[in-house]
Amino acid sequence: MSEKKIKKIAVLTSGGDAPGMNAAIRAVVRTCAYHNVAVLGVYRGYQGMIEEDFIELNARSVRDTINKGGTFLKSARSKDFRTKEGRQKAYENLKKHNVDALVVIGGDGSFTGALLFNEEHNFPVMGIPGTIDNDIYGTSHTLGYDTALNTAVEAIDKIRDTASSHNRMFFIEVMGRDAGFIALNTGIGGGAERILIPEEDTPIEELLQDIEEGHAKGKTSNIIVVAEGDKTGKNIFELKEYVEKKHPEYDIRVAILGHMQRGGAPSCYDRVLASRMGVKAVETLLEGKSNYMVGINNDVIDLTPLEKAIKGGSKLDMELVRVAEIMSI
Ligand code: F6P
Repeated sequence: MSEKKIKKIAVLTSGGDAPGMNAAIRAVVRTCAYHNVAVLGVYRGYQGMIEEDFIELNARSVRDTINKGGTFLKSARSKDFRTKEGRQKAYENLKKHNVDALVVIGGDGSFTGALLFNEEHNFPVMGIPGTIDNDIYGTSHTLGYDTALNTAVEAIDKIRDTASSHNRMFFIEVMGRDAGFIALNTGIGGGAERILIPEEDTPIEELLQDIEEGHAKGKTSNIIVVAEGDKTGKNIFELKEYVEKKHPEYDIRVAILGHMQRGGAPSCYDRVLASRMGVKAVETLLEGKSNYMVGINNDVIDLTPLEKAIKGGSKLDMELVRVAEIMSI
């Protein structure tokens, strides 16, 4: 248990924005209000902590935010916070504003920063996983992931209309530099013939063979979902060219869904998740605990040590790869 009662908590969003971040800020602020704890909002992630870019928040300042994508506190990937001097300055600013603990909403890079900050300044920190990539150990869902899946699958559905009307093949790139959660799930949900993910080596010849077999089986159009970080060694345009060279008779197009997957109103699932995580993050700090990430597993909100959340590795369910394979027979 902590020796000191927590009277003021700072909250920030860091790394890539994700739908549900606003709902999480709101949940942190309102849980604090419920427990008579003051809240300091930090703009632009850790950079704002270094530059003293703060705003006092209360229950009413987060009105009309639950349904909004992005983050009203703004986000950044701060280079300065990677330095000891930067973290020292940030600490001094928090102390100056009488802050006793910090809630960080972000991905693993943001959590690494939070851990270092705690180690150097013995400052209580708590993480809420916010990234559309879902690539954080210790939670089945990160904030924004469900919304991104729905956005991406809706786009794939629309592309399917054209693919099928023109007997075309589409390579569709979805986000995920290091993780295939979005690709694998939207691929299955969008009825893709083939899904390329960073977790799996896919020799390009194998991809071509699959496509050829599909044609032989009577498939007239093809949707191939490709994660940004796939392991073919070719970018999506090179993939298209490769297949086109071997089969000039195929009519092939490329669509990159890009940042449209990251924006937009959070799904109901993400709003509820954000609310539950915000409550847990604040109440865990008030219990005197630090260095945890709030997660959800089997619909139960629980805690994972931040260190484990960062180092835990991918939790992609490879059974889904088999399901995808069977579905594209
Ligand atoms: O980590 C979230 C994410 O959206 C990744 O899926 C993507 O690779 C990356 O961020 C893009 O980052 P940026 O917005 O800086 O281009």
